[in-house]
Amino acid sequence: MVNIPFQIRPAVDDDRLPLALLFAEIAGERDGIATEPPVDIEARAASWTLDGTLVAVAGTEIVGSLHIDSSPFGFGEIGMAVGREWRGRGVGSALLPEAIELARERGLHKLSLGVFAHNRAAIALYRKFGFAEEGRRIKHYRRASGELWDSIEMGLLL
Ligand SMILES: CC(C)(COP(=O)(O)OP(=O)(O)OC[C@H]1O[C@@H](n2cnc3c(N)ncnc32)[C@H](O)[C@@H]1OP(=O)(O)O)[C@@H](O)C(=O)NCCC(=O)NCCS
Repeated sequence: MVNIPFQIRPAVDDDRLPLALLFAEIAGERDGIATEPPVDIEARAASWTLDGTLVAVAGTEIVGSLHIDSSPFGFGEIGMAVGREWRGRGVGSALLPEAIELARERGLHKLSLGVFAHNRAAIALYRKFGFAEEGRRIKHYRRASGELWDSIEMGLLL
């Protein structure tokens, strides 16, 4: 495994396509995020909300991203993903504090998210940064396979 450095920065317009490609790749794993294939990459790129999106970049490659969807009610909903070959190398741990900082700057009082109950890496990452488990949604997500997956709601008061 090569130890290439990466940096975190806000997303810019040129990131749309790589963001959509990374998203589609991870959707194809059918494991960590809710979306499953097919992903319309061009539509996803065009509609990506750059405001509130942070990217992790290694060289010219986007290796991870995190988006905060700010609600009018003071909380922000997080979605994040790191490319498979970059996992376990601290990318998520670099994105999350930057997101917490951004959320504070924007005056949000809370960050929240839903995570599949089997997603041990994600749950460990969120706990590491102080997120608490707030509840479990039973058989909430119907997958393309027909399986019904539980999700855990997690939140962090800022
Ligand atoms: C969840 C995800 C974002 C974590 O990102 P990452 O860059 O791999 O995370 P890090 O390397 O910073 O690891 C963060 C912590 O997670 C835990 N962790 C990482 N990989 C793990 C694994 N395979 N099993 C259990 N815990 C793990 C560790 O506690 C680690 O902290 P530590 O290194 O201080 O011990 C990444 O696995 C991912 O994108 N998965 C697919 C998409 C997804 O599940 N998104 C989240 C949807 S809610």
